[in-house]
Amino acid sequence: MNLFDSHCHLNDEAFGEDIAEVLARAKTAGLTRILCLGYDIPSSKKAIELASKYDIVYAAVGFHPENLEGYTLEDIREIEKLAHSPKVIAIGEVGLDYHYEKKEETGEKQKAFLIAQIELANRLHLPLSIHARDASEDMYEVLSASPPRFGAVLHCYSGSVEMMKRFAKLDLYFGFDGPITYKNAVVPKECVAACPSDRLLIETDSPYLSPVPLRGKRNEPANVVHIFDMARALRGIETEEMEKQLNENFERLFHVK
Ligand code: NI
Repeated sequence: MNLFDSHCHLNDEAFGEDIAEVLARAKTAGLTRILCLGYDIPSSKKAIELASKYDIVYAAVGFHPENLEGYTLEDIREIEKLAHSPKVIAIGEVGLDYHYEKKEETGEKQKAFLIAQIELANRLHLPLSIHARDASEDMYEVLSASPPRFGAVLHCYSGSVEMMKRFAKLDLYFGFDGPITYKNAVVPKECVAACPSDRLLIETDSPYLSPVPLRGKRNEPANVVHIFDMARALRGIETEEMEKQLNENFERLFHVK
């Protein structure tokens, strides 16, 4: 197997002492590339630190919409400096979240950070990893008006199939996580099945969103195999073909070989 995890947070405090074991298990499971995403300045620095220490880890730097408190747009300059590190292959995790954050209160600030970080990625010729929760329409509007020029993935895609088709026209990739393994997750399963083959990515979002049969436990990159198996079954294709398509997608989007 040659697998990847295109979205996780090894920089989260849920990982610490045992990070070397977590990565050893990932390698044993067949992973060769893991993208660790920052969500503010300290976590972006930590992602870079892990990437410089471990060969299979790559880093993304950025401000997550739930982590903007105390920061101003000026702070994106710090993200820009960090983005020049050799193993930074994307800007992220950026986005819009109206689930935990109230749109009326922080919506405008979230949009301003998202747009500024798309501009940053375009300037640095980098793709983006984007979080959208309960914000599909606003996300569509922002991405239509400020298109990422070097690609972007809607990570942990949680919208409808119709919305996915609209987003696909903007040339976006779609990342799928643990929820596609949940018994009652009808729409996520439909989305995986309907996703264009050249737009599909698999991720864990560790330490969150553990797939079946590990729900309730801390998630880790090795568990991407469960997401791979479910996605492959839903798409009804052979393991080898699935593996090939996924790796081509990862390499095309993130410009790594
Ligand atoms: Ni995430």
